[in-house]
Amino acid sequence: MSNAMPAWTLTENASLKALNTFHVEASAAQLLELDDVTLLPDVLALPQVADQPLLVLGSGSNVLLAGDVEGTVLVFANRSIDILEHRADHTIVRAGAGVNWHGLVMWSLQNGLSGLENLALIPGTAGAAPIQNIGAYGVQVDEFIQAVEAWDREAAAWVRMDADACRFGYRDSVFKQFPDRYLISAIELRLPLLHALRLGYAGIDEEMQAMGVELPVAADVANAVINIRRRKLPDPDVLGNAGSFFKNPILPLEQVEVLLQHFPNLPVYPADQEDRRKLSAAWMIEACGWKGYRDGDAGVSPQHALVLVNHGAATGAQLLALARQISASVLEKFGVPIEPEPRLIGAQW
Ligand code: FAD
Ligand code: EPU
Repeated sequence: MSNAMPAWTLTENASLKALNTFHVEASAAQLLELDDVTLLPDVLALPQVADQPLLVLGSGSNVLLAGDVEGTVLVFANRSIDILEHRADHTIVRAGAGVNWHGLVMWSLQNGLSGLENLALIPGTAGAAPIQNIGAYGVQVDEFIQAVEAWDREAAAWVRMDADACRFGYRDSVFKQFPDRYLISAIELRLPLLHALRLGYAGIDEEMQAMGVELPVAADVANAVINIRRRKLPDPDVLGNAGSFFKNPILPLEQVEVLLQHFPNLPVYPADQEDRRKLSAAWMIEACGWKGYRDGDAGVSPQHALVLVNHGAATGAQLLALARQISASVLEKFGVPIEPEPRLIGAQW
């Protein structure tokens, strides 16, 4: 008998509590874990899977499960990292969808590659990184995406999409716009060997000074980012959460100028377009008095106003109800609509 891992496994009535970082109770009618992605078309055609709803989950760190999931939850378990090409100034790396993102960042640094250091400690999988174009500390992953490999359910074909085809934006991509169309099996990253470090953002420089680093290399930036993140954000293994629950709203400059007359301390950041600005949702939520709020087991982190938390037994529906109250109060006080960042499963915003 062979000891090899099975190419896929199918479990009926599976708990999703460990598969979402809010740690809400929910179950899936079926859980399909796929190791050999070349078999994806075959498993999708299985009678138990075909013509049923399908949801892909990575680590569940950007979803809110509002109830049990019908149909099949697919988890990619392909976790290999391969070097596809070495050049004088860059290396092309392919990571299977199931690779842990932070593990990939650390692997890249250990292999002398840079670029991903500001994205250290973001939870989740490599396959999910392009979905909302993960970003932190002045860097978004689209800068380094060479291609995304996916099964296109509409065309019933494998596709290899370059960065333009992915239509990346702030917390956005074609994959987020059409959440049921593409099943991402791997990503290819183009990582530079030498790279101008991005140090200017949100306390990295200060953290590096506190660490006693004078001539920083990429690994120092990663360590600084890790330190800041551990201070600022609750650890989902200790207190269930999905990171920022709301996106920072982007508004026309004229509207921002009017807001600043009323709220001169409101933090304002550049946006992709010259005539637009990004506002701090955390600041507005804190100004509405929500930071540290708790109703039963649903609450807002006392560490960061943008992070909704599950103190133990909150349901997805309770967390969603709280999110709606928060957004209504921000709309009332500031006239600014804020939208959830995580994907809501089984509910509409
Ligand atoms: P999941 O939550 O499992 O899925 C998210 C979405 O992607 C779902 O719609 C799912 O269907 C889809 N999906 C997942 N994998 C695939 C695939 N292979 N093919 C097709 N669709 C797929 N995000 C940031 O951008 N920046 C941050 O700084 C950041 N900090 C965070 C801090 C904390 C403490 C937490 C809990 C979350 C944070 N996040 C952050 C959000 C989250 O980590 C990222 O969005 C991450 O990429 C989600 O990965 P995941 O594997 O958990 O995806
Ligand atoms: N602030 C408050 N109260 C708080 C927290 C923050 O008023 O409780 C204000 C402060 O003025 C602070 C500012 O908000 O300076 C910005 O805070 P922070 O640097 O923590 O960034 P953020 O805008 O809240 C964004 C991302 C994070 C990412 C950080 C760092 C979004 C929605 N969130 O948060 O991403 O890690 O920047 O780059 O863009 C995520 O997407 O899940 C996530 C955690």
